[in-house]
Amino acid sequence: MIPRLRFAHLPTPVDPLPRLSQVLGGPRLLVKRDDQTGLAFGGNKTRKLEFLMAEAQEMGAKTLISAGALQSNHCRQTAAAAARFGMECILVLTGKTEETPSANFMLDTLFGAQIIHVVGRAGRDRVLQETFETDSREGKKPYLVPYGGSSPTGALGYVYAVEEVMQQNVDANWFVFGSSSGGTHAGLTLGQRCFNYPGRCSASASTNRGAVCRSMWSHSLRKPAKKLARGSSWAPEDVLVNADYCKAGYSILTDAEREAVGLFARYEGLPLDPVYTGRAAAGLIDLIRKDFFKKDETFLFWHTGGQPALFADRYQSVVTTS
Ligand SMILES: Cc1ncc(COP(=O)(O)O)c(C=O)c1O
Repeated sequence: MIPRLRFAHLPTPVDPLPRLSQVLGGPRLLVKRDDQTGLAFGGNKTRKLEFLMAEAQEMGAKTLISAGALQSNHCRQTAAAAARFGMECILVLTGKTEETPSANFMLDTLFGAQIIHVVGRAGRDRVLQETFETDSREGKKPYLVPYGGSSPTGALGYVYAVEEVMQQNVDANWFVFGSSSGGTHAGLTLGQRCFNYPGRCSASASTNRGAVCRSMWSHSLRKPAKKLARGSSWAPEDVLVNADYCKAGYSILTDAEREAVGLFARYEGLPLDPVYTGRAAAGLIDLIRKDFFKKDETFLFWHTGGQPALFADRYQSVVTTS
């Protein structure tokens, strides 16, 4: 039995997107509402945290330590999980500080996390490691929550998400989603294999390093794959990480994200986030228009959350120009 705490609101709904399907000329579009997983505005990190928090508790941890960008959804949900389970939380955040904390950054503070700010990514790993070592020495029993919640343990959340989708009788040819630290992708791929799901995964990289997404994917996959899908092997063509839509760089809005966020909002009343789901939706739309994704296929778009970022000052242009 794999240790797991149950606090996510599951199963998340699967809804059709009929008006968007029509606008895009026909493919059947469904959305898996993982923005409704329930922990601090929801998102994909809740599923991972069910397994990570169980591991932290088993290790007797008293403090969660993690890192990410200033507007990290992962850090916001980690801070909320710490509050929920009576732990301390320390977050090492990178990015330009805001005069008035907004959106995810504001929520981290609201949940009681202690923030350590580092200017560039270069020093982040070092500061994270030093913080962990200092807290260990001081007896604070820290647990290092991996970047993006992606580790062999965190990825399990998305293995079981596939079982959930099967119980909902969803027969999609493709799962489409945004990818960054690779745990969502690793879990979904392994879940498809474990539960004999016939569809494929198309991951859209949010960072301009598709190769990094792929290597994080394989890191997250290796251990659970040994346990859950013994004897499985993966060919390179099984791992589709599309890096065509992240050339502008991580979290930089382009017209493609603005159009995608605008279409989901105006035709379905569904807010996406500017960084991950907005970019993944831009990829989905482009691949439908290019006929790579076929009109007679069914797509399950995983809404992995992140909407609090819409309220960050830096993303206001997603609304004003979409
Ligand atoms: C809203 C949202 N969607 C998707 C992702 C990507 O998931 P993963 O890090 O598992 O690749 C993230 C990562 O932070 C996220 O915050």
